[in-house]
Amino acid sequence: MAALRGVNISIKDLTHRYNPKCPLTFDKVNIEAEPGESLIIIGRSGCGKSTLLHIVAGLLKTTSGTLHLNNEAVQGPSPRWVMMFQAPHLFPWMTVERNVGVGLYFAGWSKAKAKERVDEAISLVGLEEYALKNTQDLSGGQQQRVALARSLVMEPELLLLDEPFSALDAFTRTALQKDVRSIAKKMGFNLLMVTHDIDEAVLMADRALIMAGSPGKIMHDINIDIPDPRDRADPEVQRMRKDLMQSFHEASHAPMDSSSNTQMSSSG
Ligand SMILES: Nc1ncnc2c1ncn2[C@@H]1O[C@H](COP(=O)(O)OP(=O)(O)O)[C@@H](O)[C@H]1O
Ligand SMILES: [Mg+2]
Repeated sequence: MAALRGVNISIKDLTHRYNPKCPLTFDKVNIEAEPGESLIIIGRSGCGKSTLLHIVAGLLKTTSGTLHLNNEAVQGPSPRWVMMFQAPHLFPWMTVERNVGVGLYFAGWSKAKAKERVDEAISLVGLEEYALKNTQDLSGGQQQRVALARSLVMEPELLLLDEPFSALDAFTRTALQKDVRSIAKKMGFNLLMVTHDIDEAVLMADRALIMAGSPGKIMHDINIDIPDPRDRADPEVQRMRKDLMQSFHEASHAPMDSSSNTQMSSSG
């Protein structure tokens, strides 16, 4: 696969409401990112993280404010910015290979050319041995790897992830956190990921954005300058985890426009 480049993300005063009768989902969100940066948004359930990600993916329209990727206003979905969800949404009766290649098939790629890309993507996520298996015969973690390969095959400039590992067991999750970060760094694309797991942010992010409130706002933007590979047991990782936890609590208890943010929830 060709070396990829990332995007410059510029989000200015992005505001959203689902309909005129709804309160604002989030208010004046500003995010800037350099090509290749991994940004992770942490926040409690209901603060608007998924909505924000859907807007960046071009799947939802903003109410006001602007969103540019490499100075281009996002008008809709594109293979250049690909979204990965919590559930992998695979075709269970198809092989890993066919699932991974489905985007190239729809883009009209020749079989031979597609095969080369597909093989590379499958090897990046470590599923070479499973290429010819049906995805219904794979574990949850392996299925999520297939979904990842299917995103990589499109050579995205930006990979958007909405709590992609929250349904997985701890070991599988740790392995995927490591691999997604190292693949993103190796290929140079940006990550914009949502989680409610502070450890995940410390292990995967270049910057953690803490979102809180109702309507949601970005309350903190924290640099995570820890060398790779990152290990949970590393004192530096532990220290950063503590800092993030503190900022997270500060943000959650800051005075807000509404009282709904005071509820503690463990899931996003
Ligand atoms: N389709 C919808 N119509 C109206 N309100 C919605 C819709 N989807 C989400 N919401 C509301 O918008 C707010 C933010 O939701 P969401 O972006 O899913 O938050 P998060 O991902 O942070 O949990 C919540 O109050 C939620 O109930
Ligand atoms: Mg969500």
